[in-house]
Amino acid sequence: MTLQDNFGRRFSYLRLSVTDVCNFRCNYCLPDGYQCSEKEQPLTLEEIHQVATLFARNGTRKIRITGGEPSVRRDLPDIIRTVANIPGIEEVALTTNGWKLPQFLPEWIDAGLTQLNVSIDSLDPRQFAAITGHDRLQDLLQGLALAKSLSFDRIKVNAVLMKEHNGDQLPRFLEWLRTTPVTLRFIELMQTGDNGGFFDRNHISGESIRTDLLNDGWEPVLRKAHDGPAQEFWHPDYAGRIGLIMPYSKDFCSSCNRLRISSLGKLHLCLFGEQGYDLRPYLQAGSLTQAENFLIECLTDKKATHFLHEGKSGATAHFAQIGG
Ligand code: 5AD
Ligand code: SF4
Repeated sequence: MTLQDNFGRRFSYLRLSVTDVCNFRCNYCLPDGYQCSEKEQPLTLEEIHQVATLFARNGTRKIRITGGEPSVRRDLPDIIRTVANIPGIEEVALTTNGWKLPQFLPEWIDAGLTQLNVSIDSLDPRQFAAITGHDRLQDLLQGLALAKSLSFDRIKVNAVLMKEHNGDQLPRFLEWLRTTPVTLRFIELMQTGDNGGFFDRNHISGESIRTDLLNDGWEPVLRKAHDGPAQEFWHPDYAGRIGLIMPYSKDFCSSCNRLRISSLGKLHLCLFGEQGYDLRPYLQAGSLTQAENFLIECLTDKKATHFLHEGKSGATAHFAQIGG
């Protein structure tokens, strides 16, 4: 049985945050860096095992490990291995900012990683450093080259285009895709609790990027029944593909196929929801059946769509909080 909501959407994909700590300072997410506060510890390896087992038993086939930055946890390879070994889990993906990618990647692949997403908001090293607070572009590019040499080709690169920063970089990204066989996904800047003014100054509509791509000969890839909300494009002259993630577009939410668990074990039905539903007490009591009943009941609360269009970004201060 796959988890399902009142609108018939099925959830076979879980995004599992393993920490809210991040060592980058992306200007749209944590411009002042991670603010440490005395509070609860993130899910333990054992709790992660329980969560993943719970979801796998209810039809989850793909788990993405996210953060914050998951690799600030030393036990990340153990987390990947634990999740990968759970019966029913076919895909273990990881979203990372890619610091030390060349060093970490072989271990992750060895542990059972099947897909990797990294953020590269600019191919200009200085601009990359200005956006993220870290001069790490070369490491990321080296990491991608290493992945290729290891024949690990399930890689997606995320970029957020922002008017005042990298808004003019589309041609450079496209040039790169001519010879680079990755899927580059432009994620439309989203408003969160913390980034209001920044959002107003920097938002570029995904629709305008889409128009540029279509004019340039990019063609939409046909969508399959359970594809997520990204729209993909291909071009005969390019080795890479493009994905557009346009949360402000009509019907974005109708293809929602994912649920989220925060690093503190709260279920989030939407990135922009108002609240998390605490699964941790059930995990700590070791009661998967109770956790299961709670989970199924929570799902009936899932709304048809977010309220971003009304300027309501929900209770999420920034995406490091619950895993973007
Ligand atoms: N808008 C759009 N994308 C965001 N990300 C983080 N915060 C935002 C935001 N406000 C993206 C990062 C990364 C992914 C995990 O989430 O660029 O690629
Ligand atoms: Fe860290 Fe990701 Fe937020 Fe950047 S977007 S600060 S890498 S959590």
